[in-house]
Amino acid sequence: MCLVMFYIERVKPITKLDETMREILLNDTNKVPIVGFGTYKSMGQDGVESVNYALSNGYRLIDTAAIYGNEVAVGKGIKASGISREEIFVTTKLWRENLGYEATKAELKKSLNRLDLQYLDLYLIHWPANAKNYDNWQKTNADSWRAMEELQAEGKIKSIGVSNFFQEHLDALFQTAKVLPSINQIEFHPGYWQPELTEYCKNQNIVVESWSPLARGKVFGNEALEAIAKKHKKTVSQVCLRWIIQHDVIVIPKSVTPKRIEENINLFDFELTSEEVELINNLPEMGFSGEMPNSWPDRV
Ligand SMILES: NC(=O)c1ccc[n+]([C@@H]2O[C@H](COP(=O)([O-])OP(=O)(O)OC[C@H]3O[C@@H](n4cnc5c(N)ncnc54)[C@H](OP(=O)(O)O)[C@@H]3O)[C@@H](O)[C@H]2O)c1
Repeated sequence: MCLVMFYIERVKPITKLDETMREILLNDTNKVPIVGFGTYKSMGQDGVESVNYALSNGYRLIDTAAIYGNEVAVGKGIKASGISREEIFVTTKLWRENLGYEATKAELKKSLNRLDLQYLDLYLIHWPANAKNYDNWQKTNADSWRAMEELQAEGKIKSIGVSNFFQEHLDALFQTAKVLPSINQIEFHPGYWQPELTEYCKNQNIVVESWSPLARGKVFGNEALEAIAKKHKKTVSQVCLRWIIQHDVIVIPKSVTPKRIEENINLFDFELTSEEVELINNLPEMGFSGEMPNSWPDRV
C-alpha cells in the first residue's frame, strides 16, 4: 500500500489535455495516446487491413481482447504497418470466464502468441468477477490482479488495468493490490458516460478509457450533436470523440472504413466550448449497451 501511495503522490495524470503530445501520463509513468483504435468485430482480413490503415494514419494505440477472436489479425495488421513495436501501444484483455491466478498467466501467454508479440503495453481484466457469478468475487479478482502484477514485474506487460469495474470492484481490489490499476476502460459516450465513476477513478489517479465512444452508431441522428458539428464544420463522430478527450478520457473508436478511420483521429483542430461540453454532458440517455458489471451475463 505504501508503494501505491508513493505513486499517487509522485505521478499525477495530466489534468488538462496536452494538445502537442496528445498523450496521457499513467500512474505507472507510462504514456498512452489519447486517441486509439478499437477492433471489436473487425475480423479476419478486415482486422488486418483496418489496423494497418489506422497505424499508417497516425494511430498508435490498438485495442483488442481475447474474446474478440481477432488477436491474430490485429498482430498481422501491426506487422504489416512496418512501424516499430516500441512506437505502438497494444492493449488486450483477459476474458471474464478465465479469471484466477493460474488462468490469468496462461491466458496472457496465449494472447501474446496470437498477437505474435513479446510483451503487451496494457493488459486489462475485461469484466470483474461479480457477486452473481462467484462465491468470492473479491478473491477471484485479487488473484488475477496478483498474477498481472507478477507479469508486469517480469516485463511481459508494461501497464496493468481493469475494465468495467464499478467503485465497489475497485475498492475491493485496493485491499490487496500492490500496484494501482493504471486505467479503467468503461462505457462512455454522449447519453451514457458514468460521471460519478469517472470522477472516482480520476480521484484515485486511474485514467478512464472510453469504450463504444460512438455508442456503436447510436449517437448519429441526434439533433443537438448535429447542430454542434455543423457549427464547427466537423462530423457528429468528431464532436463525440472531442467531447470525450476534453474530459481527459482516452477514446478508441472502431471502424473498418478508411474515410472514417481518418476522420476519427482528426480531432485536434477544434475545441468545444464549455457550454457545448455541458450540453453534451446533459443529453438524455442514448445508446446504453445494457451491459453491467454486476449482472453479467444478463443485460439490464
Ligand atoms: N472493455 C469493454 O468491455 C469493451 C466493450 C465494447 C467495446 N470495447 C472497445 O471499444 C472499441 C470501440 O467501441 P465499439 O466498437 O463497441 O463501438 P464504437 O466505436 O462506438 O462504434 C463503432 C461503429 O461506429 C461506426 N463508425 C465508426 N466511425 C464512424 C464515423 N466516423 N461515422 C459513422 N460511423 C462510424 C463503425 O462502422 P464501420 O466499422 O462499418 O466503419 C461501427 O459500426 C471496440 O472496438 C473495442 O476495442 C471494449
